[in-house]
Amino acid sequence: MTDAHETGRLNRRHFLGSGTAIGVALAADGVAQAAPVRAPAIGALPMPATRDDLPLRATVEDPSRLLLDRSWRFHIGDIPMPEIRGHGWSYNSAKAGQAQGAAAMQYDDSDWSEVDLPHDWASTMPFEESANVSQGYRRRGFGWYRRALRLDPADRGRYLELQFGGIATNATIWFNGSIVAHNWSGYNSVYVDITDLARFGDDLNSIVVRVDAQTMEGWWYEGAGLYRHVWLAKRDATYIATDGIHADPRRAADGTWSVPVTATLGNIGKIPAEASIEVSLIDPDGRTITTQTAAARLPSLKPGSATLTIPVPAPLLWSIDAPTLYTLRTRLMRGGKPVDERTLRIGFRTLRFDAATGFHLNDRPLKIKGTCNHQDHAGVGVAVPDALWDWRLRRLKDLGCNAIRFAHSAIATEVLDACDRLGFLVMSENRNFNTSPDYMDQLEWLVRRDRNRPSVFMWSVFNEEPMQGTPAGYEMVRRMSVAVKALDDSRPVTAAMNSGMFAPVNVSQAVDVVGFNYQRDQYDRFHAANPTLPLTSSEDTSSFMTRGAWETDRAAHVMASYDEEPADWGSTHREGWKSVAERPFVAGTFVWTGFDYHGEPTPFEWPSAGSYFGIMDLCGFPKMAFYLHRAQWVDDVPLLDLMPHWNWPGREGQAIKVMALTNVESVRLMLNGGLIGEQKVDRYTMPSWQVPYAPGRLEAIGYRGGREVARSVVETTGAPVALRITPDRRAMAADGEDVQPCTIDAVDARGRHVPTANLDVTFAVSGGAIIGLGNGDPVSHEAEQGNRRRLFNGLAQVIVRAGGGGAGTVKLSASAAGLRPATSTVRRLATPARPSVAPARMTLTVQDWRQSPAATAKPSPDIVLADNDMNSWLYVRAGEIQPPQGSGRWTVLRAKLTPHRGTRERGGTIVFKDLVGRGEIWIDGKRAATKPDFAATTLRAAFPPGPGERIVTLLLESDGTVASGLGGLVFVED
Ligand code: GAL
Repeated sequence: MTDAHETGRLNRRHFLGSGTAIGVALAADGVAQAAPVRAPAIGALPMPATRDDLPLRATVEDPSRLLLDRSWRFHIGDIPMPEIRGHGWSYNSAKAGQAQGAAAMQYDDSDWSEVDLPHDWASTMPFEESANVSQGYRRRGFGWYRRALRLDPADRGRYLELQFGGIATNATIWFNGSIVAHNWSGYNSVYVDITDLARFGDDLNSIVVRVDAQTMEGWWYEGAGLYRHVWLAKRDATYIATDGIHADPRRAADGTWSVPVTATLGNIGKIPAEASIEVSLIDPDGRTITTQTAAARLPSLKPGSATLTIPVPAPLLWSIDAPTLYTLRTRLMRGGKPVDERTLRIGFRTLRFDAATGFHLNDRPLKIKGTCNHQDHAGVGVAVPDALWDWRLRRLKDLGCNAIRFAHSAIATEVLDACDRLGFLVMSENRNFNTSPDYMDQLEWLVRRDRNRPSVFMWSVFNEEPMQGTPAGYEMVRRMSVAVKALDDSRPVTAAMNSGMFAPVNVSQAVDVVGFNYQRDQYDRFHAANPTLPLTSSEDTSSFMTRGAWETDRAAHVMASYDEEPADWGSTHREGWKSVAERPFVAGTFVWTGFDYHGEPTPFEWPSAGSYFGIMDLCGFPKMAFYLHRAQWVDDVPLLDLMPHWNWPGREGQAIKVMALTNVESVRLMLNGGLIGEQKVDRYTMPSWQVPYAPGRLEAIGYRGGREVARSVVETTGAPVALRITPDRRAMAADGEDVQPCTIDAVDARGRHVPTANLDVTFAVSGGAIIGLGNGDPVSHEAEQGNRRRLFNGLAQVIVRAGGGGAGTVKLSASAAGLRPATSTVRRLATPARPSVAPARMTLTVQDWRQSPAATAKPSPDIVLADNDMNSWLYVRAGEIQPPQGSGRWTVLRAKLTPHRGTRERGGTIVFKDLVGRGEIWIDGKRAATKPDFAATTLRAAFPPGPGERIVTLLLESDGTVASGLGGLVFVED
């Protein structure tokens, strides 16, 4: 006989892939200790046990980039542009570099808060009934971000680019007072070439982003702000363009493989450059298989390109079970030296959709067992750190899910790196169905970014568009398909249709694979009418469950977890899967959804604020649907899970519905040693019994070929006596980015998980920080930040970020009234932070000056320049001396400025670096300092406090040989 605990351990080992069966034991003092304990029976703590490994960093490092996530200034709410009046101001405000209001380079942001990215301000907003239900009753509104950026003088002459991973939702971006981008979607990246406007050394640069998150692109929670990474790329003047490598492996008809590589290149130099690319293919063990080169000519300020093909005789294939990745390193070479380099991970695999037999990966049929997922998580909204994504994807892997549709938009590139690495197929979906240039740019960006990825296997051009059954919809998809194929001809184009597929002219006629959202009852009819068209479900199920709840109470917004509560347009999980599994011509399923998400709390509205559709809840805690699908989707390892829990005080003698979620052949159910019954397993419906409740031990034994292969136990527990913390990992990286979710539950006197515990818990952390909390209750209005959370049906989650201070420990403790507290200590490993841009503080720089014509006698400081006179005086910048027009040794320099708060309130100092010439400095009509010598020196003068705009006037006399003027920068220091 197999020991029940042993079976549980085997199962976990399989799904965790970590080879560990070590749990976390709770010592008498409540301290969680890593100890080799017998793995708990399945269902005891419905989460994986603690692992030892660090998450693999999701991103393929690009040595030309620095992370720009730290130390942004943030203001919540809009800051209207000032009403511009007067001709001079109107004229000047219309010029490059002269952005006004909060976009101005010199705007005073000293009272803004400081935030690190990823950042989603909507997840910090209160739940308000008057706010939009679809967005989870959170007001999003507007926000501003500012960041000072210091560029090393050595960066002069290099190609410089800002890369915003994603900004929710519309954004205007200024660099040094000039608008450099308008962006019209919250899901695409924005790349900004800042080379021409960049300043160096103490002349700091200013990045400003105004975010309009009032605009919506969806009917789900979309978050708000700079919620993905921001990068600064510094490259040689001749460089490889961002997303500029196209390297998608191909298998020829004779079975041989090759990697055609095209590099898109740039050159900011003044003359064309001769260069070459050198491409190396490196196998999974780090051995370079081959290196090929090709010549490239780079015209000045125009894209150049180079192409070559790498033959690869017999590569190891990429698959969902063995996601073998090769490394493709492309170097741009000049004069025999590499000047830029980009590294990709690529995989060798074939895709084929067959109208009769569905999807084939590497020539083998593979049923798509997919889930649709939005991009938010409990506690953090859409600002999901890379390590948390790694965890979420591993939860999907544990489920037996092999494909993901990121609904309904592009996902962060780091997430796709993890999909390549972990072995998921990804339906990559375009957000906006629109063929106008701005929106076609979004689609083309998506394809260009992701067309090398082994994980990406379909391009979906839309989700459920009302025009899908019209000639206009057809014409639009035809155009989008052509645009996609111009960039990538290796993956099929699909569209997620929920209607119109039988209309005379409809979108199914313009795609390669037809996607059905729901419409289960049309599978056969459509296939009969279109026997040569491949078909997949692109979305199905939409069934409601509250995690850990077993009785529907619509008044309390609770949905039972027996898989009996589908949406009107959906199906139960079991029916949805059966319809797909039984039809070979339906390539697969994409269950709506893998995880719950904020917003769209169907079938309820206020006070429900989160969805009920997930196979897992908002924290990634498994619902019954998790065990159900896992038992349906995984064949090799025997699985058996009993539902529900067995704590039903007061229900003695009453029938409780018990389900076994299993992939074995038959299951015997026992209660307190007595036989309840034995059933053959129908994996579509799953065995169930009505069991008269008696407290004690409910046990299921699973058989294959008459032999016991699995066992599952649920037991009636005692009252909770202690808290328990189960971190996901025992070690964290002290790189300032690593996070992990910790599961909090309550246990009884025998250390058993109490599934009905609902109590308030308070947390404290040292050596790290809590970045978010959740419990999976869609009705909860508790804050997602802070240090308190209620256990919901026995569970809560705390997401902890390790501090960046080198080796040490991260200690999380939890306490609740009347319970023994718990502490979990994990190691913090000294891990270098990723190369990132140092924080910088913007002092007020007085850059823009007007300079009078030369005069032979000392001018008056009150000399007037008419507001509408744009031509008599020169425009000069501090640091760049221009000889005055006319003759004479004297000149006047004048600037207007509004000092920052410190100077306004307490006064400050104005500093002139390398001021050339002798003369006087006047501030608001009063002499502030005198410069007695002609030579270039740094001059300081007290800047008196005072409100509003101030006028600084310099009267400068040259020695007659060199021009006087502002040889260096001018600052006003608080
Ligand atoms: C679909 C839609 C999804 C979600 C789902 C809920 O129609 O594509 O985004 O709204 O319904 O059942």
